[in-house]
Amino acid sequence: MSQDPYELAKLAAVKLAELTKIEKHDVLVVLGSGWTPAADVLGNGENEIVVTDLPGFSAPAVAGHAGKLRSVKVGNSRTLIQMGRTHYYEGKGVPAVVHSVRTAIASGVKTIILTNACGGLKLEWKPGTPVLIKDHINLTGSTPLVGARFLDVSEVYSKRLRNIAKDIDNSLDEGVYVQFHGPQYETPAEVRMAINLGGDMVGMSTALEAIAAREGNCEVLGISLVTNPGAGLTNEKLNHEEVLEAGLAAASRMGDLLKKVIERL
Ligand code: HPA
Repeated sequence: MSQDPYELAKLAAVKLAELTKIEKHDVLVVLGSGWTPAADVLGNGENEIVVTDLPGFSAPAVAGHAGKLRSVKVGNSRTLIQMGRTHYYEGKGVPAVVHSVRTAIASGVKTIILTNACGGLKLEWKPGTPVLIKDHINLTGSTPLVGARFLDVSEVYSKRLRNIAKDIDNSLDEGVYVQFHGPQYETPAEVRMAINLGGDMVGMSTALEAIAAREGNCEVLGISLVTNPGAGLTNEKLNHEEVLEAGLAAASRMGDLLKKVIERL
């Protein structure tokens, strides 16, 4: 991306409005690995485009990441559902990782719900357990902010939105999400480090997007779906298919939760 990323996001927002025939969106929901079936709970695919039809987007590299944007009405909120994301480990740079968030912001979005699949660092969280993100540790060594943009990140993940989610499902736990670079899963030593740093979940997305969302003054809700215990915490080996399966099994329940949250915004 050689162009100014904010200008590129504005261009993408104009094209999004043209293709979806929706002038302005209120909410962006980013569906992570295995979360895509939740999209159908939020609304049907009548108004759906492929991201590559918009300026600045490239096709996602990962199986289970469809690379589509669907516009639906949930309650009173015009909602944009993003299926598939650009990951930092794809090597396309941070502006590419946060381009969809910036595009959504340029199309009027004020609330951003970021979902992901994660390794759980608490063994009581069995695969298929959703956990609200209460804070993050960004171990990518990178940021979407360039220059003297001193952003307050003392409440990246909105307490108000977490409370709405807990009101809907009081079994929801909260935790600190640690974003690693990936694409390799963590070593057992890295998992122990993440625990010692105060982390509860490990993954390869979300923190950079959340920073971009806060830069755009959006309220952010983050939900991680635990798909496996962090490496070395059990004897289990990690593989991407299992991550997708755990997501699929929980997706309709997750869709329900997302729908109820959006209806109460
Ligand atoms: N680590 C990083 N990312 C992940 C994991 C994990 O254990 N599970 C699902 N995504």
